[in-house]
Amino acid sequence: MEFKSKDIISIRDFSKEDLLYILDISKKFEKDYDSNLLNGHILATLFFEPSTRTRLSFSSAMSRLGGKVIGFDNPASTSVSKGESLLDTIKIVEGYSDIIVMRHPIDGAARFAAETAKIPIINAGDGVNQHPTQTLLDLYTIQKSFGKLENLNIGFVGDLKYGRTVHSLAHALSHFKAKMYFISPPQLKMPKDDLEQLDKEKIKYTEGKDLSKVANKLDILYMTRIQKERFPDPIEYQKLKGCYRIDKTFLENTKKGLKVMHPLPRVDELCSSCDGTEKAIYFEQAHNGVTVRMALLSLLLKKIKNERT
Ligand code: CP
Repeated sequence: MEFKSKDIISIRDFSKEDLLYILDISKKFEKDYDSNLLNGHILATLFFEPSTRTRLSFSSAMSRLGGKVIGFDNPASTSVSKGESLLDTIKIVEGYSDIIVMRHPIDGAARFAAETAKIPIINAGDGVNQHPTQTLLDLYTIQKSFGKLENLNIGFVGDLKYGRTVHSLAHALSHFKAKMYFISPPQLKMPKDDLEQLDKEKIKYTEGKDLSKVANKLDILYMTRIQKERFPDPIEYQKLKGCYRIDKTFLENTKKGLKVMHPLPRVDELCSSCDGTEKAIYFEQAHNGVTVRMALLSLLLKKIKNERT
């Protein structure tokens, strides 16, 4: 992929080589970077849904490289509340900025915005569909922790139906022949089309609801929150909340090299007693978001020569 001026919409748009290339550039940014590299550029962060990590780490990445950030985190305070369409919002903001990061509750909204915009759009999460930059930082964290991406056993736990981070990461790890264990209540299983895609790629996976049955096989335990805001029926959420909960005692009975990841925020599925253990890498995972997003912004704003082209 030629990165300059590209949109980042779905992890499915990246080849294995693209992913590895971004991780390599990210590694360079972790060691050193030019704090004026993006001087004169403006990032617009348009968040139609709440966020802490994604919005602030993009803002931090842009600021660390000398760029400026504008945007909103509450559509109620913008002209969207007066009925302005997404199309018009994008048409206006593209005149105020050089690149847009957008989170939106509707699946496909990022693709729709990208078809309209003359500047790059980065999908910061569209409904239950995709969260590609989360996947990039997840891959970066895995590579840093294990020294490789190939042939790992990963257990995805929790809300696999609505969990866009899981949908994106499962696809990305299929390039690296991961074995996947999908652990969820029956109501929150992985969507059929994601599993069909894994079947096409001949990826080995199992589905079940009992974490304890597979915990000792795992290199990575990828916990996710049961997402209250995604449930059409609040009674269904009440039935499922708290269905998984791991704590320090649980981790003591797992494989030595296991690493626990979580896109965060967490609610009750991951106890703070896990935090100080050597298995917990979720805070490091969140912090890696700045490095990876610095690399991505620089690639898209043409500030890094793509050595592969
Ligand atoms: N992981 C993640 O997307 O977190 P935020 O919702 O806080 O951005």
